[in-house]
Amino acid sequence: MKKTKTPAAPPCTLFLFGANGDLVKRLLMPALYNLSRDGLLDRNLRIVGVDHNEVTAEGFAERLHDFLTERDKGGEGAPKTLDEALWAKLARRLDYQTGDFLDPATYQAIAQRIAKTSHGNAIFYLATSPRFFPEVAQRLGEAGLLDESSGGFRRVVVEKPFGTDLASAQALNARLLKVMDERQIYRIDHYLGKETVQNILVSRFSNGLFESFWNNHYIDHVQITAAETVGVETRGAFYDSTGALRDMVPNHLFQLLAMVAMEPPAAFGADAVRGEKAKVVGAIRPWSPKLALKNSVRGQYAAGKRMRGYRDEANVDPKSQTETYVALKVMIDNWRWAGVPFYLRTGKRMSVRDTEIAICFKPAPYAQFRDMELAQPKPNYLKIQIQPNEGMWFDLQAKRPGPELVMENVELGFAYKDFFKMSPATGYETLIYDCLTGDQTLFQRADNIENGWRAVQPFLDAWVNGGEVHEYPAGEDGPEAGNDLLGRDHREWHTLG
Ligand code: BG6
Repeated sequence: MKKTKTPAAPPCTLFLFGANGDLVKRLLMPALYNLSRDGLLDRNLRIVGVDHNEVTAEGFAERLHDFLTERDKGGEGAPKTLDEALWAKLARRLDYQTGDFLDPATYQAIAQRIAKTSHGNAIFYLATSPRFFPEVAQRLGEAGLLDESSGGFRRVVVEKPFGTDLASAQALNARLLKVMDERQIYRIDHYLGKETVQNILVSRFSNGLFESFWNNHYIDHVQITAAETVGVETRGAFYDSTGALRDMVPNHLFQLLAMVAMEPPAAFGADAVRGEKAKVVGAIRPWSPKLALKNSVRGQYAAGKRMRGYRDEANVDPKSQTETYVALKVMIDNWRWAGVPFYLRTGKRMSVRDTEIAICFKPAPYAQFRDMELAQPKPNYLKIQIQPNEGMWFDLQAKRPGPELVMENVELGFAYKDFFKMSPATGYETLIYDCLTGDQTLFQRADNIENGWRAVQPFLDAWVNGGEVHEYPAGEDGPEAGNDLLGRDHREWHTLG
């Protein structure tokens, strides 16, 4: 993780496979721009776009420049106004290699570029369609580009989705590990680049206070929500074959679960942290088919609030049964969490954008203030909001001032914006920097990914022949069945927003 006085990362040639795709212009270039602004890139860092289109280096730079200067086109964290002097500095680092990902000649050209550098360091960033992940890796291996024996480091960044189920994730891991070591593989989950996600570890493990009540003696249940207001936008084809579960749960939501539920690592190094995370995700109870159906709810948005329904989106099957909302109940079988349900939900076209973890504490043992209005106080929640209003809040009961004894809910809180000046960031800055410096803490190890898929596989299997996809109107918080999932346990979802 980043220290306060951060030195520039070592020199390297960063090859961006899929250079003309969306990820590069929306997120990777803005992140590289921000890193350059903060003086974190070595003067010998070169960025080489690799793609099949015939484009010159100047043309590549120009396209990126045009994109970044068109207002509101960049993703979150992209510079609002481009500083031309800063851009010019970054543009000087850019180059382009036309090449077919399957053609060995592409890799020879790459080898020649690396041979011309004095450092020999290279990162191959696979921002391509997932079908190319194993193909590119194999060809990099065959061309000897993953061999570090001459001194330079060679690393491969693999984007998501990493597989579509347990078997395909295992197969992908096996193919990658055939041509490189685990320590050369950087599997991205962009949630781990978010400050607020990294802060969960710092809050938990540097404040002694938390550990004393962070267990099944005091915590009743945990809710993890990633609610989005956007629909599937231009990604209908991808999304229709993916769905909310695959898109968000084994990766982003399980990363949040792991941060909340993992045991304290023996050290803050990559091995210790990733070991604990893999362990806790591996402790998620695999449901039987019957229980997988009982403990999951699928929803799909229909037309609502002047927004079209999912089935009317571009490139979506008009009879699609793909879920755009999913709610799950999972149990973690270890001593700390035995008996504490974790409820997870995520959905598109919900009422608000809110990614949060709500930790619900057990109530006071009996109604002490029996005669008060609200005699049964609301449970205490600790809300960790990942986005958009980053921070942490504790719900408490307090006495409303006045002659009568009346209880009211109040909040004890910390909002990032009140304490820290945060420069715009995409979340990829930390991840790219860590890859350049060789810190794998915030990247997923093979066992973590496979444990994640192992935990969601029972739902995927159970849904093949069973269960129902419930409709919910666009702009609302999922189907009623999602509320019933908690209702039957006499609980309710924490209010979003
Ligand atoms: C991506 C999913 O991984 O994460 C998208 O493919 C989703 O469907 C996105 O919208 C959410 O990311 P964030 O950072 O906006 O919460």
